[in-house]
Amino acid sequence: MNKARIAVLVSGGGTNLQALLDAQGSVINSGEIVLVISNKEGAYALERAKMADVEGVTITRKIYGDAFEKTILDCLSSHKIDIIVLAGFLSVLSEDFVKHYPNRIINIHPSLIPKHCGDGFYGLRVHESVLASGDKVTGATVHFVNEVTDGGEIIFQKEVEVLPDDTPEILQKRVMEQAEWILLPKACELVSKKIIEERAI
Ligand code: GRF
Repeated sequence: MNKARIAVLVSGGGTNLQALLDAQGSVINSGEIVLVISNKEGAYALERAKMADVEGVTITRKIYGDAFEKTILDCLSSHKIDIIVLAGFLSVLSEDFVKHYPNRIINIHPSLIPKHCGDGFYGLRVHESVLASGDKVTGATVHFVNEVTDGGEIIFQKEVEVLPDDTPEILQKRVMEQAEWILLPKACELVSKKIIEERAI
């Protein structure tokens, strides 16, 4: 079978990337991670890619300036990428970029969208916002990316309990373990399968 070709875009530690790499051959069967692009030099996610024998590339705004997105697009196209996964990628992509891959870019957000999302809601800030709101339940959302930050069609959501003594760090870890690392591989398989099926028609 010709698998869907997946690129994962990262900026940091890459635990979601690791969950995807670990899910290959079990949860992810219709797709294959063939490329990791980091917009931060020395991101640990690149080490994870290397250990899994996946090509890793660094493309930063600092080096490429106005050609940043064009350089990423060229790299994706030369690797014949079908699906782009934003896994802790802390750079907002332009409308123009997104238009190149309609319903082919997936993002993971650590809250139950439409709560605690949008511009400025990333990393621990999301969990700080959940704790400040007094919500008893939070979770994670995997969604397609369109031109609105955290605004594309929702693929999966999973709830996670908020406990009385939670700190943003503790809550972040629980949301990752109980929701993000489970949902993202499942969403990759769903979208990969759809691509393969469309190809067969
Ligand atoms: C995750 O919480 C993800 O939901 C968000 O950024 C974080 C990335 O963590 N978009 P990691 O780099 O995958 O460990």
